[in-house]
Amino acid sequence: MVALKEGYDLAAEVRYWKQKRNAVILAHNYQVPEIQDIADYVGDSLGLSYRAKETDADVILFCGVHFMAETAKIVNPSKTVILPDLEAGCSLSESCPAESLHEFLQANLDKNYYVIAYINCSAGVKALSDVICTSGNAVKIVQSAPANRNILFVPDQNLGAWVMEKTGRKMDLWRGACYVHVEFTKNSINAVRELYPEAPVVAHPECTYAVRLLADEICSTEKMVSYCRQSTAETFIIVTESGMLHRLKKEVSGKKFIPGPTDKCACADCRFMKKNTLEKVRDALECLAPEISLPETLRKRAELPILRMLELSL
Ligand code: 13P
Ligand code: SF4
Repeated sequence: MVALKEGYDLAAEVRYWKQKRNAVILAHNYQVPEIQDIADYVGDSLGLSYRAKETDADVILFCGVHFMAETAKIVNPSKTVILPDLEAGCSLSESCPAESLHEFLQANLDKNYYVIAYINCSAGVKALSDVICTSGNAVKIVQSAPANRNILFVPDQNLGAWVMEKTGRKMDLWRGACYVHVEFTKNSINAVRELYPEAPVVAHPECTYAVRLLADEICSTEKMVSYCRQSTAETFIIVTESGMLHRLKKEVSGKKFIPGPTDKCACADCRFMKKNTLEKVRDALECLAPEISLPETLRKRAELPILRMLELSL
């Protein structure tokens, strides 16, 4: 690992190692701008899952959080999958340990649950699920669930509640939440709306009900790009993690994007997404570590509900 000198072209070094390793760099919309700028593909969890499955590169460098890199390994096991920082976790994933879900399902066998898991969960939780969804396809996935089964939706209660509103389908919800999106409040969003009364509020479905009520559009991070591109509005209030603004500014030219504030900050950062840096990206490519690996039996069991999702979302 090379120490940084002044004027050192880190991006060029990343490109060098990327080519040498025959790697593809997949980055989530919440990554820091310099990582988004060097990535082969920047997108939401759904788009990233498709890209990870399709790639013929030898190495997938996943710039996102652990469950995303793990999903890439599950759907493309012959590839070396690396994550710049193994501590890039997710509060939603943590809120639903596989052991707790297993115990819950055992204690409620009479319900014969059809388990729909938001992709923000561990391989262990995926392995206990019937189908996976992302914020981009959750409505479609819930609509396709068997009509005669009770649904248990894990782990995000806010996304789950929003999908219930959209589909009219009753579901039992795991009580997990994203620590970033629940920081937006009715007051914090109303305060910014007063400053930009003409600007549509575009919010992620992980936000609370009180915030969702104020939104003009509720959608996944990928859909935010197409919504803002197609809208006739010139200014938008973007109620999600701050990394999203870089992608929007880059791809939707001539429009203005205001970050949704919280009660404490002018914007919201996910401390897990922000663990990854360009230095760590370079080091990961150079050392091919930290690498994601998981037992084959677990991988195979976790793959089934992901493949079901990918088929249902086409
Ligand atoms: P998207 O799938 O909409 O990108 O959301 C992922 C996420 O982690 C939101 O907090
Ligand atoms: Fe997880 Fe929330 Fe961070 Fe998304 S923003 S990775 S849901 S903690």
